[in-house]
Amino acid sequence: MSSRFTDSSVMSAVTIMLATITGCVSQDRDDASLLAEARAITQQFTATLLPTLQNALSEGGPEHAIEVCSVRAPEIANELAESTHWSVRRVSLKARNDKIATPDSWERKVLSEFEARQSKGETGATLSESGKIDGEFRFMQAQITMPLCLTCHGTNVSAGVSAALREKYPNDLATGYRAGEVRGAISLRYSRD
Ligand code: HEC
Repeated sequence: MSSRFTDSSVMSAVTIMLATITGCVSQDRDDASLLAEARAITQQFTATLLPTLQNALSEGGPEHAIEVCSVRAPEIANELAESTHWSVRRVSLKARNDKIATPDSWERKVLSEFEARQSKGETGATLSESGKIDGEFRFMQAQITMPLCLTCHGTNVSAGVSAALREKYPNDLATGYRAGEVRGAISLRYSRD
């Protein structure tokens, strides 16, 4: 009798654990599990986009890579959103794609804080922020300008890159960055639908 009691207790504990992990009881998900999932999604975003960008640069040069980035970056965001309960996009205080990357008021505030934290010496990996905003769990992970990024976001972009950017992004604000600066962020919101 006592062993049956133990078995069913173990079973219900396992059921609760699995339900939590798979998100079946999404209403009850705690902030720690949401945060862990958000971090994993932003890492996946970078781990998919960075090699795509590097390959495009080495295969066809920066103008080809601009073309690839303009298609693949929003696609990767959408693919991640479709396979999860999150909406996913990239934002910046100086947006290149002003149609999708213009921050809302919370994102604007967090991006300014990232810049302040970065200028005090904090590095990219720890520059993230999360919170319940109007009842919705949100997460942002800063994207730091690396030397590789300067080809298209730096202070000295070539005439060819400038022309290609102007053609695709007439309202582009995303040049003039130096290595180490906050270029923008990946921004996630959790939705239960
Ligand atoms: C080959 C040129 C190129 C390089 C190199 C490049 N980017 Fe971009 N970046 C773009 C283009 C084009 C877009 C607009 C994509 C779109 O339409 O969503 C963009 C957009 C972004 C955005 C989204 C916000 C916005 O302003 O639209 C972020 C964040 C970003 N880039 C960060 C980086 C980082 C960090 C690096 C270096 C690891 C980098 N980029 C390297 C071309 C480039």
